[in-house]
Amino acid sequence: MNDTKKIALVTGGSKGIGRACVTELSKRGFKVLIHYRSGKEDALSLAGSLPDADTFGADLSSPEATQNMMKEIKSKYGRLDVLVNNAGVCVDQLVMLAKEDAFDKMFSTNMKSIFLMSKAASRLMLKQKWGRIVNITSVVGHMGNPGQSLYSSTKGAVTAFTKSIASELASVGITCNCVAPGFIKTAMTDKLNDEQKTGLMEKIPMKRMGTPEDIASAVGFLVSDSAAYISGTTIHVNGGMY
Ligand SMILES: NC(=O)c1ccc[n+]([C@@H]2O[C@H](COP(=O)([O-])OP(=O)(O)OC[C@H]3O[C@@H](n4cnc5c(N)ncnc54)[C@H](OP(=O)(O)O)[C@@H]3O)[C@@H](O)[C@H]2O)c1
Repeated sequence: MNDTKKIALVTGGSKGIGRACVTELSKRGFKVLIHYRSGKEDALSLAGSLPDADTFGADLSSPEATQNMMKEIKSKYGRLDVLVNNAGVCVDQLVMLAKEDAFDKMFSTNMKSIFLMSKAASRLMLKQKWGRIVNITSVVGHMGNPGQSLYSSTKGAVTAFTKSIASELASVGITCNCVAPGFIKTAMTDKLNDEQKTGLMEKIPMKRMGTPEDIASAVGFLVSDSAAYISGTTIHVNGGMY
C-alpha cells in the first residue's frame, strides 16, 4: 500500500449508488474500502477492477458487526480519511399498517449504524486532523412521501445528526455533509410498479430518474479540496424536484 494515499470507506459499495461512489473515489485517487452485506461477489469483482481497493463484509443493522468492522479497519490500516455512509434499506408501508419491525430494521440500518460508523470514523480521522463524512439521505427526508413515514424519518434524523456532528468536528478538520438523492435508478427503485414510476416522472422537472453517477459526482465534490469550507449542509440531487 502507498502510505500517502487517502483511504475512503463506502458502505453498501457493491451496487447502486454506493458502487458509483466507489468508482468515483477510486478515480479521484483514493484507496477504496468497499463494504458489502450480501453482495460479496460483486464487491470482490469491483475491487479486482480497481487499482487499489479492499472489501469488508458486515450487516450494519447489527451494532456488534458494525463496530467489529471498524475495529478490523483500524487494525489493518490505522487510518480513515473519508466515510460515505450509503448503505440503506427502504420498506414502504402506510402508517396505519406499518409494522414495528420495519421501524426497527430501518432505524438500525439507516440511522443507528451511521451514528456508530461516524463515531468510530471520526476517532480515526482525528489522528490526521482531516476527514470527510458524507451521508446519503433522501429527498423524502425533506419533503415526506406517502407510504414512507418511517423511511423518511430515518433520513430526516440523519440530516439532523449530520448538522450536529458537523459543528462538533469542524474544529478538528472533519467536514460532515449529506447528499440527498431524488429518485435514482437502482435496485431500490426497480421494485416500483409502472404506475408509481409514471407518477414520479410527473414530479421531476427534468423528466428522468437520476443515475447513481449523478449522486457519486456530488459525493466526489464534497470529499475534494474544493469543498474544504462546506460542512453541515445537504446537496440535493433530484432533477429539480426539490
Ligand atoms: N435509489 C433511490 O432513488 C434513492 C433515493 C434516495 C436515497 N437513496 C439512498 O441511497 C442509498 C443507496 O441506495 P440504492 O438506491 O443504491 O439502493 P440499493 O441498490 O438497494 O443498495 C442498498 C445498499 O445498502 C446495503 N444494505 C442494505 N441493508 C444493509 C444492512 N443491513 N447492512 C449492510 N448493508 C446494507 C446493500 O448491501 P448488500 O446489497 O450487500 O446487501 C446495498 O449495497 C440508500 O441509503 C438509500 O436510502 C436512494
